[in-house]
Formats: sequence, structure tokens, C-alpha cells
Amino acid sequence: MKKHIILLLLVAGLWIPARSQSQGNLDLIPRPTLLKAQPGSFSLTPQTPVYTIPAFSAVARLYSETAHLPYPKLAFPQKGPAKAVVFAMADKSAVPDSAGYQLKISTSHVTILARTQTGALAGMQSLLQLQLLQPDQTLLPCADITDHPRFGYRGVHLDVSRNFFPAAYIKRFIDLMALYKMNTFHWHLTDGAGWRLEIKRYPELTQVAAWRNYATWKDWWTHGRRYSRESDPNAYGGYYTQAEAREIVVYAAQRGITIIPEIEMPGHSEEVLAIYPQLSCSGIPYKNSELCLGNDATFTFLEQVLTEVMDIFPSSYIHIGGDEADKKAWQHCPKCQQRIRDEKLKDENELQSYAIKRMEKFLSAHHRKLLGWDEILEGGLAPAATVMSWRGESGGIAAAKAGHDVIMTPGGYCYFDSYQADPATQPEAIGGYLPLDKVYSYEPVPKELDAQNVKHVLGAQANIWTEYIPTSYHLEYMVYPRLLALSEVLWSDTTHKNFADFQQRMQSQYHLLQRLNVNYYRPSYAVTIHPEIDAAHHRTVISFGSEQYQPEIRYTLDSTLPNNQSARYTGPFAVTGSAPVRAAIFKDNQLQGAPAFLQLDDHLAIGKKVIYNIPYSQKYPAQQAATFVNGYRGSLTYGDGQWQGFEGDVDITVDMDQATALHRLSITFMQLTGPGVYMPSYVELLTSDDGKNFKPVKQVNNDIPTSNVTLTFKDFKFDLSGETARYIRIRAKNEQHGFMFADEVIIY
Ligand code: ACM
Repeated sequence: MKKHIILLLLVAGLWIPARSQSQGNLDLIPRPTLLKAQPGSFSLTPQTPVYTIPAFSAVARLYSETAHLPYPKLAFPQKGPAKAVVFAMADKSAVPDSAGYQLKISTSHVTILARTQTGALAGMQSLLQLQLLQPDQTLLPCADITDHPRFGYRGVHLDVSRNFFPAAYIKRFIDLMALYKMNTFHWHLTDGAGWRLEIKRYPELTQVAAWRNYATWKDWWTHGRRYSRESDPNAYGGYYTQAEAREIVVYAAQRGITIIPEIEMPGHSEEVLAIYPQLSCSGIPYKNSELCLGNDATFTFLEQVLTEVMDIFPSSYIHIGGDEADKKAWQHCPKCQQRIRDEKLKDENELQSYAIKRMEKFLSAHHRKLLGWDEILEGGLAPAATVMSWRGESGGIAAAKAGHDVIMTPGGYCYFDSYQADPATQPEAIGGYLPLDKVYSYEPVPKELDAQNVKHVLGAQANIWTEYIPTSYHLEYMVYPRLLALSEVLWSDTTHKNFADFQQRMQSQYHLLQRLNVNYYRPSYAVTIHPEIDAAHHRTVISFGSEQYQPEIRYTLDSTLPNNQSARYTGPFAVTGSAPVRAAIFKDNQLQGAPAFLQLDDHLAIGKKVIYNIPYSQKYPAQQAATFVNGYRGSLTYGDGQWQGFEGDVDITVDMDQATALHRLSITFMQLTGPGVYMPSYVELLTSDDGKNFKPVKQVNNDIPTSNVTLTFKDFKFDLSGETARYIRIRAKNEQHGFMFADEVIIY
């Protein structure tokens, strides 16, 4: 009996300090490898001394400056430092990974132990983040942290061509990256919309090609795409002087960030060819986007530019772009065709590959490595090139299997120019749909790679194209908080990967971002409805999701709008048959935002056979022949695996197995003109009893104009009362010759 009491006291004794720890906040992102809360706290004052070993003096100095503490001292006091922050050397047993660190916060000391400056910087960032997380920013909870990164490459790309962000802002961008332990800044310095780096040998690049005649990218793009001059009062643009770029390189390096410059070639080069038309196939300004690869002057230009670039940027990688070159001009260019013959190349793909290989030779002669977008695989990869996989993961998989290093930046997970919520609620973006939880769900190592090839995946990167991001304020809206999710994907090990836990820590991080005046995207009040359909049993299990933390979700299944008395959601529940599901978040009894709606359709066509008279696009097969009849509806993005894509007309026949009395039918299409997705001009319905002889029944015309550029959905609905048929044929006319995306054929 007594023993039990003692044991209880012991447990309570351990537990009480643990409860007092809850006063401090340890909600770090990315999540450290090991974090053990300890009793007590360390009080930072403006006089708290900072001590460091010489190896970490630069890191300690940065820490002191950022935390507004006294300049660090190199000489440790005889008795040992008291009430101090200490940067010290770790041994290999304490910190096995050279990029890792230990951070120990006790009531008497804060100690950062590392083996390298990189590790010390990471430890410093954890400490600074902890300071920002505390209510008064001075009382730090005691803890033992042992931490190291999962991936060595943790990147953020920024396109400064489509919109220009001044040097002073780039420093803040880097500060925020560093706080979340991102270590590579991929600076997309040149593109059609403007050249952004001073090149001494080619001053026109920044006197002219850095300036355009419209401020927004969209206006410029739709009004002739002309360049202006720096002195023109109507010009929009800007560039970094070499001195500014050098300063930023140093600034980033002090914070553990490598800058990789990108100079685009051979495509996306309109701005170069406007001022140096002799480097294009036509020789005429404003005609070509691609550099002429038959002309040796092109290579002289590129090598001279890269010579200056390498002098500014010490990174081992130089990014040469390589994406989206339209190879048509080369087909009709005598010089390019001569090059193809002289070099015994097969086609224009090999011509591009020739150019990239030639650049690689040049870079490698200067002890640098070539990095390019995944198109550099086409026509044969340069021998030592590293590939950035952006058109999905396939480029990365192919390159890794061939023994090349890769950086994963697939559009579906890493393009932070995509919408992060329903486009109807968001400022205009380029398209796509990438909410926070999808970024968090990303796994950079494709499952197609075996143990041997996994090592070639260096890491991943967020890409931020700025066509629709005109200001730094808007830039932060697109980057935050999604970058926190990617930072955890790249830094933290997967054993503790858990979105609910991440979301809990995000509640503190939102506060931190407010303190830093970051214009982050606020978590949406939208409810997402996730159906799990069991067609055989006419049952659907419904669960709800939200970006809110522990929201009060109320729902209805009876066509009424949810109110503060409606059923409260506590976990997944089953629904039998068809039902209209509506759900909304309530806070202080008030409805927040518009209720979400999903019609569950346990309709007649579910599980029936669909015959394709014209095949669907192999690029967007969705669930193949099950797509239209699986009960699942396409969501806000055509990349969700429920929307089936068509490059020609839709022409399908649904076989109902037997003659069936029909009442109504609908099929849904979407329009999003940016990426070339249009409504059909009409949908027509035919029926048949034998599957051979069809009679036309009805036609529904489209009424959404192509001038409607925002994401739009339309149900093409047919009233079929009185019709009986076994075969129902649906034809939709693709008159715009773009893509059409369709989903669920609902038949009652
Ligand atoms: C790219 O998004 N064009 C690399």
C-alpha cells in the first residue's frame, strides 16, 4: 500500500514540473528530431552575455545582433559562464550529423552545441524561433533538443522577372526562409518579362530589357510584350546591380543559405532577343523566344554572361533553365539545321541537348555544376547534370535511375503560385490548387526509386512564379504558411509526421508570423467534405476537414442550411443512399463563411460500364473507365484524379445493363481559360437499345462565354422523363481545341 503511495508521489513529482512547462512554448517548425521539455525556464535580459568558441563567432555575432544582446565574447570566464548563451563545439557522439545541433536550455544556460557553422546556425534559428514563440519573448522554457535535417537541399525559388522585388526585400525574404531552416535560394533572374541582373559586358540587358511598358505582367503579356527604357516614366522594372547581388550573397551565406542563380536558356529569352536580335533564328526583334543554337555568337554571349554570374555567385550549382523551349524556330533556321548536320544530331531535341551539354562543359571547366529543369532530359542528359523535376515526378525518377542527382519540385505539391483555397475566395492566381495540408502530405522520395537511387534525391523546393504576384505583401501571402509545411517535410524525419500535430503547432506559428508582420494567408473557415463511397452497399462514410484548429462543425443532410443547433460533427459517420450534405463552422454561435455542399448521388449509373467512342487524354486519365460512374465528383482542380481530360470531343456510351426508365441526367464540365480548359459548345444525348443504332434525344448548349476566365463549373442537365433505354451516349463538342474536363455522369 505504502509503496503505491510513494509511486504515486513520484509520478506526481515528475508530472507537476511537466505541467509548469506548459507556460513555455515549444511549438517549433520544423519539428526537431528529439525534443524533451524540462522543468523551469531561462530568463533572457538585454544584458545576458553570449560566449562562443572562435569557430562559431560569426554565428554568435548574428545571434547577438538579431536578439539585441551584447556582442559575443570569445574568452570564457574562469568559473564558467553563468546565466549566458553559449556556442560550443560538439563531439561526434552528441551530434552525429555535421548539419545537426543540440540546443539545451536550462535555468542557468542556453547552450548550442554543433560541429560545423551550418549546425550552429540551425541551432541558432531554433533558439530565435523559440524566443519569438514565447509570450514575452524572454522567458524560455527549459528543454533538450537534438536535431538534424532529413534532406540537404531545402529550397525556395523566386521569379523576379515577371515581377521585380527590390534588394532590401530579398533580405527579408531570406531572413524568413532561414527562420524555417530553408538553405537554398534559387533566384530566377532572367525571363521574358525582364532581365534582372547587371551584366557589365551587356549593359542593354538592364538599361532596356529590365524595363517593360506595363506594370502588371498580365497587361504586358496581353498588350504586345514590349520593352522600354530605364528612364521612361511609364516603365516598370528593375534589376540588381552586381554590388547588390554580391551583398545579398554574403547576407544569405551568413544565414546558412546558398544562392543558386538561374540564367534562362535557350527558351524564355524574349527580353534578350528584343535587344540582341542577331542571337535569334529570325534576326528580327520581338519575333522569337528561343536563342538560335546554330549561331556561335549565342554561346559566346551565354559564356560571357555566365562568367560574370560565376564571379558574383560562389554556389557550386548554376541553373541554366532549359524549360519550355519551343523548338519550332530551329526547324526552319538554316544555322540550326547546319548545326544538327555538323554535330550529327537526330532532331531539335538533340539540338537543345547539344546546347545544354556545351554549357555544362563550360561550367565544369570553371568547377561549377549544371542544374536545369527536367526538359534537359529530352534529347539526352548532360553527363553530370542535376535535374529539377517540375512536370510531376517522372523527370526526377528517370534522372535518379540514371544516376543523376535530382531536386523535386513537382507542380502538384511545390508550386506556391497555385491557389491555396477556393479560387472564388482568393486573389487571382495562375491556377492549380495547393492547400496547406497537401504541401504537408508531400513525400519527396518517389516510391519508384530503390534504395540505391534514393540517395540521388537531394531534397525539394517551393517554386514561386510571380505572374500574378505583384507585390512583396502578396508574395508573403502566397508563401506563408505553406513554406512551414514544406520546411517540415524537408527537415523533419517521417516517424512523427502528423498533420494534426503540425496544425496544433501552427496555432503558435500564426502568432509568430503576426509578430513578424508577415502577410500570411489566414486559415480558411471552409469545410471540406470527404466521401468514402461503398457503392456495393449504397453507403458513404463522410468526414469533414478544415484549416481551423478543432473547429465546431455542424451539418445537415436534409436540404436545410446548417445553423448553430444542427448536428455537431464529432467524427466520420455513414450515410445510406443519396443525400445533400451541408456543413459549416460555427464560432460563438455565428456561422463562419459559406456552408460547404456535396450532393451524394447513389445514382443509377454507379458501377456501370462506360465505352469510350473517342479516347480520353492519356495526360488526365483520372480513374479511367470508372471516372464518370464512381460516385465521386471532381473537386476544384483538374489534377485531382476525378476530372477526366479530353483533347478532342467527349463521346462516351454508358451501358445500363438493361432497358432502364430514365428521369434525368447530368454531366459536369469546368472552364479555366489560363491553362486552356474550356466548356464544350454543346452536349448532346442519344439513346439506343442495341448499342448500335442511336437516336438523338436532346441537346444542351453552353452559355458560359470564353471571356469568363475564372474557374467555372457547369452541370449540363437533361430532363429525360418518359425515356427508356439501355445505352446512353453523351457527346460534347470541343470547339475551342483546348482541353475539356468532365466528371460524374449522374443518372436517375
Ligand atoms: C517551369 O515551371 N516552367 C519550370
